[in-house]
Amino acid sequence: MLIDILTIFPEIFTPLEVSIIKRAKEKGLVKINIYNLRDFTHNKHKKVDDFAYGGGRGMVMKPEPIFEGIEYIKEKLKIKNEKLKIILLTPIGTLFSQKMAKELSQEKHLIFICGHYEGVDERVKTIVDQEISIGDYVLTGGELPAMVVIDAACRLIPGVLPKEAIEEDSFSTGVFDWPHYTRPPIYQGLKVPEVLLSGNHREIAKWRRKQAKERTRTLRPDLIKEVKNECS
Ligand code: ADE
Repeated sequence: MLIDILTIFPEIFTPLEVSIIKRAKEKGLVKINIYNLRDFTHNKHKKVDDFAYGGGRGMVMKPEPIFEGIEYIKEKLKIKNEKLKIILLTPIGTLFSQKMAKELSQEKHLIFICGHYEGVDERVKTIVDQEISIGDYVLTGGELPAMVVIDAACRLIPGVLPKEAIEEDSFSTGVFDWPHYTRPPIYQGLKVPEVLLSGNHREIAKWRRKQAKERTRTLRPDLIKEVKNECS
């Protein structure tokens, strides 16, 4: 998958240089290019924002650097009608979910536009395919949301993680993952459940299913309802 990011803070994206995403890049499963929107400005101070028409507080991100950034990427790749998805991160977008992560992981090419200030000029939306919010709260910009979406989608690209790891994910199965324990068997008086030390794989599987269901019911009863609705 090819991922292009348009941002005014390219230096924020260091989390994409470590761990699983780093390995995915090394394996050639993902390529990530980061573009500074200021490189697509034509004014002396590389200003990317301006006052809002109609007055009021706050600045608006100008359309030109964003349109030109997208054009530059298309030009560079000699893209004409290839499949490509342009995503704008914004608190008023569709709420991000595991289902959306799965869909995005199947795309060939994603371009992320990271908004800032009071938002981007509305005309940018004419070239955007999808607006995504990562939650009902307002962050200082779209960079952290872009990283959240990229991380969630990239780990689902075939070959990035073992298949079984993904199949057992919370949200993929409709219930949360079960509780996990590792050595030592007793730590500060806290014991690992006996069944996990028993070597009885049938019993372990049964215990895990029960635990997963119970904790989903306690922590997120809405998810259980959702699965029931989908099945009925
Ligand atoms: N930009 C600011 N807040 C955001 C959010 N919650 N999701 C996506 N982009 C944002």
